[in-house]
Amino acid sequence: MSHIAYIIASPPGYEALAAAEARAVCPGSWVTPRCVVSDAGVDVDRTAFVHYRIELLAHGHDYAGVCDLIGQLNLVSDRFRIEVHKHPRRTPMPRESVARDLANLITGQPDLAAPSERFVFWLEADTMLFGRIQQETANDWKQRMAKPFNVSAGIGSRMAKACVNLVCSPGDRMLDPCCGSGTIPIEAALIGVRAFAFDLSWRMAHGTAANARHYGLDIGVGIGDVRSLAGRFDAVVSNLPYGIAIRHSSGFYDEAIANIARLAPRCVLISNREVIDVAERNGLRVDDVIRQGESDGKLPRFVHLLSRV
Ligand SMILES: C[S@@+](CC[C@H](N)C(=O)[O-])C[C@H]1O[C@@H](n2cnc3c(N)ncnc32)[C@H](O)[C@@H]1O
Repeated sequence: MSHIAYIIASPPGYEALAAAEARAVCPGSWVTPRCVVSDAGVDVDRTAFVHYRIELLAHGHDYAGVCDLIGQLNLVSDRFRIEVHKHPRRTPMPRESVARDLANLITGQPDLAAPSERFVFWLEADTMLFGRIQQETANDWKQRMAKPFNVSAGIGSRMAKACVNLVCSPGDRMLDPCCGSGTIPIEAALIGVRAFAFDLSWRMAHGTAANARHYGLDIGVGIGDVRSLAGRFDAVVSNLPYGIAIRHSSGFYDEAIANIARLAPRCVLISNREVIDVAERNGLRVDDVIRQGESDGKLPRFVHLLSRV
């Protein structure tokens, strides 16, 4: 049995992206829609949506059975805290009484204010997990919501980080050929990806360079046209231009995506409409399309996960 469980925070509207990121970064078996059990030891701060890494101590579908398993562990802990999470929250199992039951199975003193050890009891539908928290995300992407240079067409740092994780590992060379303010290359560089950023606009390229300097990051920035850039990368991750930026060119997506397919074998392309047909006729296989923002009235975004055929 694998002994590490990863628990995903999926805010409304981000469930599919959060699950896709976890599938890419924490390969293993899914025991619930928010929990994957894996042998891989992953730093959850590398991810945008994985909230906890826990040492899995017990799991099952029946409360009494899970409590029996926990009792058999003879846990001893000085100053511990038990955190109880329920999905959905209205599940009729009072948090306080679960925490009390479980605390009675551990030898030692609870300390809710300054625990030296934290346990989590996770209840999702009819599945229960109990484990010791090894790491909780610092959600570092929040610090980059307001970069020195921002553009309104940009995606958020959290979404950018997840998109990078769909196709990149630390050490990979990644290109964003339409970088805008540099949200994607900045998130990539911060997780150890060698990031390159281009934009047709001088202003955007300089803005990305200024943002990279602000965060002390080494990102190769240049001015160029996505339709004619050259080079070899492990992956392209980009939020493609839309609206006024491409009004002058009806075949823009075809030309841009045909060139992106030459630049890298894997890519994540974000756009405000589906580009499945364009990707397929330019030699890319569509591995997944994740729809964002349709339900909450925001600008719809389609996250295409593509690989060269
Ligand atoms: C949707 S914005 C990208 C925003 C970026 N992801 C961010 O978070 O700031 C698209 C960018 O593509 C750039 N662009 C437009 N046409 C381009 C072209 N032919 N080649 C490269 N970049 C282009 C625009 O200048 C714009 O910065």
